[in-house]
Amino acid sequence: MINRVAIFGAGQRARELKRLLAIDGIALDYFVVDREYVTGSHFDKTPLISTEEFLDITTPENTALFLGVGMPKMNRIRERLFELFHSHGYEFSTYISPHATVLTKDIGEGNTIFAGVNIAPGVVIGDANHFEMGTIISHDCCIGDFNFFAPGCALCGDIKIGNGNFIGANSTLRNSITIEDYVLVGAGAYVDKDLSTGRVIVPQRSHILEDKTSEYFINK
Ligand SMILES: CC(C)(COP(=O)(O)OP(=O)(O)OC[C@H]1O[C@@H](n2cnc3c(N)ncnc32)[C@H](O)[C@@H]1OP(=O)(O)O)[C@@H](O)C(=O)NCCC(=O)NCCS
Repeated sequence: MINRVAIFGAGQRARELKRLLAIDGIALDYFVVDREYVTGSHFDKTPLISTEEFLDITTPENTALFLGVGMPKMNRIRERLFELFHSHGYEFSTYISPHATVLTKDIGEGNTIFAGVNIAPGVVIGDANHFEMGTIISHDCCIGDFNFFAPGCALCGDIKIGNGNFIGANSTLRNSITIEDYVLVGAGAYVDKDLSTGRVIVPQRSHILEDKTSEYFINK
């Protein structure tokens, strides 16, 4: 029986997940981090413990463990943690905000799906992916493991996403393309072609009008 709730991580994403759980009426017992990141007894007023302590005081049967780490090191940290906790017999729980619209049941373990996400029926989702607010995953997309979807990114239909990719905020991925592994899509990019492993795609940068301030537009 589950009587402990823990989040791995003690950063912005972990805190956000704690807030979402609280809205759902779920109280958090621990934030868990690698030993060198235990900087005090608490984080955000919740006990902060090391992985070793966590493994000592919980069991896989009595604990719901969520993955609250974002995209540092191009998602490799989440990949490492997933394997580490699996080796100790733990599965990560999947969190789906009741304020998300998730119409597929084909979802693996350890995913975090924040409020305002829309996922179409028929979409297939692997393990340990993170979906920020406003992500749209349209029909027939197939998503692997350890990917990070930033706020407002939109995947048109029939897209294949491999593992460990970062899909930046407000980017748009055209229908029927394939993104292999560890691709970085910059915020605001429009992706209309397949991307092989490790590619980086960015949009044109916005530029500052050096000869104007907003005063210029007051009387325009
Ligand atoms: C693409 C991105 C990762 C670049 O990161 P950054 O910290 O701005 O990196 P830098 O400005 O140091 O740029 C690194 C290199 O890429 C180049 N570059 C980055 N963005 C570029 C762009 N839009 N156009 C041309 N070159 C670009 C830089 O010129 C630089 O090249 P150099 O090292 O040869 O000088 C960033 O713009 C981005 O899109 N981040 C995602 C934001 C997001 O979605 N956050 C959601 C979090 S929940």
